[in-house]
Amino acid sequence: MTYRRITLPLFLVQEQRRLGGSGVFTALMTDICTTCKTISNEVNRGAMAGTMGYAGSRNVQGEEQKELDVLANDIFLYMIEQSGNWAGVASEELDNAYMARGSDGRYLLLFDPLDGSSNIGVNVAVGSIFSILRLPDGVDPSDERGYLQPGVKQVAAGYTIYGSSTMMVLTSGHGVNGFTLDHNIGVFVLTHPNMRVPEDTTEYAINSSRERYWPEPIRRYVRECVAGPDGPRGKRFNTRWIASMVAEVHRILMRGGVFMYPTDSDNAPRGGHLRLLYEANPMAFIIEQAGGLATTGRQRILDIMPERLHQRTSVVLGSKNEVERIGRYYAEADAAEADAADISAA
Ligand code: F6P
Repeated sequence: MTYRRITLPLFLVQEQRRLGGSGVFTALMTDICTTCKTISNEVNRGAMAGTMGYAGSRNVQGEEQKELDVLANDIFLYMIEQSGNWAGVASEELDNAYMARGSDGRYLLLFDPLDGSSNIGVNVAVGSIFSILRLPDGVDPSDERGYLQPGVKQVAAGYTIYGSSTMMVLTSGHGVNGFTLDHNIGVFVLTHPNMRVPEDTTEYAINSSRERYWPEPIRRYVRECVAGPDGPRGKRFNTRWIASMVAEVHRILMRGGVFMYPTDSDNAPRGGHLRLLYEANPMAFIIEQAGGLATTGRQRILDIMPERLHQRTSVVLGSKNEVERIGRYYAEADAAEADAADISAA
């Protein structure tokens, strides 16, 4: 009986009652939900929407913007301006933090409106990622410092994947739940309650074309996986690389795996590849809430104290036992390097 389903609005109201909320969180999520449904509609129209090309501009990171990147960002900003629930926003596509005009909202929204946008135009999954923070007392929402909070301070985080179906995956620190968009009634429906990342895996995701730049611990991990049943791991592994972090994290949530985008010798001058505040932090929050781990290889991502809005970080996340193993490889490599330095100094 299809009417006996928990829709996202119903879920939010039930959670609000259960946790004794004021209704503010429900209002914030309703805004994001409507925004993502609108973006989903644009993405699904594909080439018919006429938004598959380049916008002719670059974002603050110097990346060429696609028309759909710009459109998705505008859809988020329009919601922020109209709703009055938000104090301000920071986006991958905006140089600076942006204050919502005439709003008395106390929450900040940090988002990547369309992640994995190299997949636009080839009909591969892309997604929106979001993170919600409280505006610290006495800080103006256009002041970047309000946004520079470690990931442990997130009130909620989530992503919407625009794939073969549209799904929103959400955490507010009480587990992770997945909702599938039912296009017939225009609402997200709870289809994946209490999502958990399996602790072990035989799948890993990394852009192997960057192997020549990788740090030794990552080389070692991948080398051992590739060696298969005859190597130290004694089993077969599979590689997956979609070049869309949302799709990669979604697969890991569904069936386990490890995702790596390390700081390497090529991206080190920029601090890594993925952005901390609106890519790594929300995904780390979700993965941890689902029983997995998210680190830089050396440090828990959610503990990083950000210094800049568009700061980048190394990312290793997914199945607990694999992320711990990679952490051990980093620790061993660091210890060997420290020993070598001691010997040469002696
Ligand atoms: O910028 C973010 C992103 O598109 C992620 O979604 C994805 O994991 C990664 O970059 C892809 O990187 P590459 O272009 O090196 O494959």
